[in-house]
Amino acid sequence: MGDDPASRIYVNNKKKACEYCGIRSFEYAMPAETTQEELMALIEKLNNDDSVDGILCQLPIPKHLDEKAVINAIRPDKDVDAFHPANVGKIMIGDYDFLPCTPAGVMELIKESGIDITGKECVVIGRSNIVGKPMAMLLLHAHGTVTICHSRTKDLAETVRRADIVVAAVGVPELITGDMIKEGAVVIDVGMNRLADKKLVGDVEFSGASEKASAITPVPGGVGPMTIAMLMKNTVKAALVHSENK
Ligand code: GUN
Repeated sequence: MGDDPASRIYVNNKKKACEYCGIRSFEYAMPAETTQEELMALIEKLNNDDSVDGILCQLPIPKHLDEKAVINAIRPDKDVDAFHPANVGKIMIGDYDFLPCTPAGVMELIKESGIDITGKECVVIGRSNIVGKPMAMLLLHAHGTVTICHSRTKDLAETVRRADIVVAAVGVPELITGDMIKEGAVVIDVGMNRLADKKLVGDVEFSGASEKASAITPVPGGVGPMTIAMLMKNTVKAALVHSENK
């Protein structure tokens, strides 16, 4: 929807990944003036199209459109972003079909790196519905001791310093500095912030944090590609479920 330059890059990367995996993708690039009715009609069409297994609406959408209504309109069994309240609720009770792509990608990185979460102090910075909240829930399901920090947290530095695993998903450039990182901590940076000089940085100050961390993700090239990989995984999962039900 519209012409958000970051969204353009994300959508292109998602299309490329589909091509790589052998998934057919269809882009509906709609102008910023699109009405709510037009957008809802498209979702309804895709919901009812048996050749479509997964649907996602790249966020953000223009301000005059109702994001919540869009998320609610996507059929839960085609909701490969896992943003629909039915899918969000399932994550809460640990009985899910799809996981939201970014938190799922973070979990995959941790697991593939041989890091055990059980009993670890996990600090998530950010409480968005898309990343922070589901991230905390997945770490909890993996038996971590989880703290969520946000803009009203009294002593962010002190809380982050306790963490064995830090997940920064707050959208503030380099908010988490090296002095906040415990020696040997695992640091996962979900942030993607474009500075005035066009440089792309995360929510973590990489140079300082990397001196303390036992493992750390770069920006770009860390969590981002994992998010897309998890989107592919969800889409294949949706296709398998749909083919079993045919
Ligand atoms: N905008 C930022 N992240 C995401 C995402 O994971 N999915 C969608 N649909 N939009 C986004």
